Amino acid sequence: MKEIYSIEVIRHRYNRYSKFYDVFEAPMEMFLGKWRRELIKYSSGKVLEVGVGTGKNIEYYPNDIDLTAIDFSEGMLSKAIKKYKRKPNVKFIQMDIQATDFETDTFDTVIASYVFCSVPDPVTGLKEIKRICKNDGKIILLEHVRSDNKLIGLSMDLLNPLIVGLFGFNINRDTENNIVNSGFDSYQVRYLWYDFLRMFIINNKK
Ligand SMILES: C[S@@+](CC[C@H](N)C(=O)[O-])C[C@H]1O[C@@H](n2cnc3c(N)ncnc32)[C@H](O)[C@@H]1O
Repeated sequence: MKEIYSIEVIRHRYNRYSKFYDVFEAPMEMFLGKWRRELIKYSSGKVLEVGVGTGKNIEYYPNDIDLTAIDFSEGMLSKAIKKYKRKPNVKFIQMDIQATDFETDTFDTVIASYVFCSVPDPVTGLKEIKRICKNDGKIILLEHVRSDNKLIGLSMDLLNPLIVGLFGFNINRDTENNIVNSGFDSYQVRYLWYDFLRMFIINNKK
């Protein structure tokens, strides 16, 4: 599906949403928290978290982690920095995953939760991850996606313009297809809640 929103528009949505993101998402955290813990268990070596947002995953990383956390929204990132500036070994950087400053083969693990529903051009972002993650590195994505059920999928398509216009994220992304189109061919999918919530465990074969 053709993307109609630019980086500037989505960044602006998240800067606006950052003011009430934690309050708004709090009820869902009771349900999503266990998957965050599970996601972070995969991290080892030099880790990049993409779209760290207000830092909801940070508490789950061990203190000896070597973590770089990026987000393109200064509003979201400033919340994470305020909460976790004293967490050891974590570096926060404002950066767009579609065009990073990192050298090729920098990271052992790349983590992202609920990010590829928002990245304006997800295939460009995933290709950039492929480049900066080492060969045989792990890329773990926790994502809500478009349902494969025809009727539910269509309802998600119809509702999507309203959601993306208000908050900046899409509810109808086909993230598995985006992964394949980014050149990854070695991955597993875990279905966590019906077919809406999935974890993608990608082995970065170069
Ligand atoms: C729904 S929030 C999720 C935040 C956090 N990962 C969480 O689990 O709560 C999506 C985040 O991705 C960030 N984001 C979207 N596109 C991005 C991009 N191209 N580069 C970096 N961050 C991006 C947004 O600014 C936002 O903070």
